[in-house]
Amino acid sequence: MATLTNTIHSLSKDFFKKLEGITTLSELEALRIAYLGRNGKIAQLMPALKTLSIEDKRNAGPLINELKQKTHAAFEEKKQQLALQKTERELEADNTFDITLEQLNCSTGTLHPLTITYNAIRNIFLSMGYEIITGKEAETEAYNFDALNIPQDHPARDLGDTFFLDVPGMLLRTHTSPVQIHAMQTKELPIAMAALGRVYRHESTDATHDIVFNQAEGLVVDKEISLADLLGTIELFFRSFFNKKDLQIRVRPSYFPFVEPGLEVDVSCPFCKDGCSICKYTSWIEVGGAGLVHPHVLQAGKIDTNTYSGFAFGFGIDRLTMLKYSIPDVRLFSGGDLSFLNQF
Ligand code: FA5
Repeated sequence: MATLTNTIHSLSKDFFKKLEGITTLSELEALRIAYLGRNGKIAQLMPALKTLSIEDKRNAGPLINELKQKTHAAFEEKKQQLALQKTERELEADNTFDITLEQLNCSTGTLHPLTITYNAIRNIFLSMGYEIITGKEAETEAYNFDALNIPQDHPARDLGDTFFLDVPGMLLRTHTSPVQIHAMQTKELPIAMAALGRVYRHESTDATHDIVFNQAEGLVVDKEISLADLLGTIELFFRSFFNKKDLQIRVRPSYFPFVEPGLEVDVSCPFCKDGCSICKYTSWIEVGGAGLVHPHVLQAGKIDTNTYSGFAFGFGIDRLTMLKYSIPDVRLFSGGDLSFLNQF
C-alpha cells in the first residue's frame, strides 16, 4: 500500500511539473496521452490496486480518483489557456482580421417594389404639404358610390365588379376616392389630403389588371381652386416621381361621375425621346384619372359650393411601379416569387 501511495504522489508531482513547462497544444496532447490516456500512467495504477487488501483498496481508491480529477481539471484549464493564447497570437500576426466586420453571405430582406413606390409617393405628397390618410378597406356603399355621385345603375355597382361583404351595405372599396368624402366631412377647410392604399375589384386578371391593387389619391379643396392648379400639381408630382425635370403632361376628356370636367392624364414617356416599347412608340403613357370635384360630391362632404371648389386625382400605384421598373406583369407583385423580389 505504501508503495502505491508513493507512486500516486510522485505521479501527481511529475504531472504538474511537466504541465507547468508546456507551451503548446501539441505538447499538452502528448502529456494527456502519457498520463490520462487509456494506457497512460494513471490507468496503469489500476492493476496494482487490484492486488491490495480490501482495507488498503478503500484507502488507495479515493487517492487514485482524486488524482484523476485533479489532473483532468488542470489539463482542461491549460488547454483553454493555450487555445486563447494561440488565437491572440494569430490575431496579432494577421492585422487584416477585423473582428468588428459585418458577416458576409448573410442574406437580408429587401423592400417590396410596391412599398418602395408607396414610400416615394407618400414623400412627394408630404413635401407638397398634403396630409396622408389611409382610409378603410371595408367601406359602405354610401361612401364608395352614393356620395361620389355614382348612379345606382353604374356597372361598378354590379356584383360582377365589386366584392360585396356579407354585412348589408358593406363592400371592399373599389377605389381610394371614398376617402375624399371622409376627409371633407371631418377635416377643416382648406383641405390638402392624400389617400394611399389597397383597393379591390372583382374582375378577371391579366398582365395589367389584378383583383387587389393599390391606388394613390389626392384631394385639394379651397377657395378659387381651378383646373390650372390641378394640372400644375400633377406635373410637379410626376416630375418628382420619375425624377425628370422636363417631363410633360397632357390631358384628355374622360368621365368619372365624381369630377366635372373629368380627365385622363398622360405623361410624356420618361424612358425615351422618340418612342419605345414601354410607351408603345407613342411617347405618352397613361397614368390615371383627375378632375375638378363635382358639386354633388362637395355637397355630400358638407362643403359650401358657392365658396369652395376642389380638384382630385387618382393613380394606380402598381401600374406606376411597373412603369418605373419595367415590370411586365402586375401579378408578379403578389406572386411571392423570391427571384423577382430579390432584385429590389
Ligand atoms: C379610379 O379608380 C378613380 N377613382 C380615379 C380618380 C380619382 C379619377 C380622382 C378622378 C379623380 P380608374 O378606375 O381609372 O379610376 O383607376 C385608377 C387607376 O388604377 C388606373 O389608372 C390604373 O392605373 C389603376 N387600375 C385600375 N384597375 C386596375 C387593376 N385591375 N389592376 C391594377 N391597377 C388598376
